[in-house]
Amino acid sequence: MILQQEVRFPIGVFDSGVGGLTVLQEVHRQLPNESVIYFGDTARLPYGKRSPAEIIEYVYEILNWMRSRQVKMAIMACNTSSALALDIVRKDFDMPILGLILPGARAAVGKGKRIGVIATTATVKSEAYVRAICESDPQAQVFQMACPEFVPLIESDRINDSYTLQVAKEYLSPLISENIDTLVLGCTHYPHLASVLRQILPPHVVLVNPASYVVRAAGQELDLMGLRCSDNCYTRSETTFFVSGDPERFAQTSRRWLGKLPDVEKVSLSPVELLS
Ligand code: DGL
Repeated sequence: MILQQEVRFPIGVFDSGVGGLTVLQEVHRQLPNESVIYFGDTARLPYGKRSPAEIIEYVYEILNWMRSRQVKMAIMACNTSSALALDIVRKDFDMPILGLILPGARAAVGKGKRIGVIATTATVKSEAYVRAICESDPQAQVFQMACPEFVPLIESDRINDSYTLQVAKEYLSPLISENIDTLVLGCTHYPHLASVLRQILPPHVVLVNPASYVVRAAGQELDLMGLRCSDNCYTRSETTFFVSGDPERFAQTSRRWLGKLPDVEKVSLSPVELLS
């Protein structure tokens, strides 16, 4: 039985840093009555160069903390976590947990046949997008490129540097040579770079941002479970921000996308004991 109170519980959204804000924007757009707890694991960023074991451990810690904050659903606003941890951690929590890979892959196959995927090194190595895209459309061809420099550049607010444009050209040029017709932004930080990427890509290449599709799936799941906060929820929806690193730095960096300086609180996550 769904308690009325549970409907008003927040949705947990997490990433290593400001990348998840691209998913948060979609939550605000598509699910405007929901409250959100946003967590950025900024002390351990970037996730893209971490091992699978580290990422799984961090995700358990974050989800345990989110459960203690009574979230009704968690959205992994991080492709690296979705690729490496979602299938493992899901069974240990009784709340719905959504990841980006499947929604992103399904959206991409609807748009093209020669699909480029840019992502972190860990996501590329996992081949999660390759599997998900080819399962959805066995005719599709996938071309991956790891872009390890992007996350540090975005986190240090260097989006409009000429160096960022130069690095982006280097990453995209092999994909352009493969004649891609679609490009999946397989890291939630990358939509922040969309205007830079658009300067380089041929105009016919369709950009796929998995964020809008995971949030659509989240809305469907909430409806299915009777947990969607509708207009008559009688609570003011609010978003609260937490980080594991420097709250002031996160507030300053995220201001550009949130349009205001958020209040950000630092939290220490409790370590979890993992059974190997
Ligand atoms: N934004 C995350 C992703 O979607 C993680 C990036 C990172 O910390 O390397 O993969």
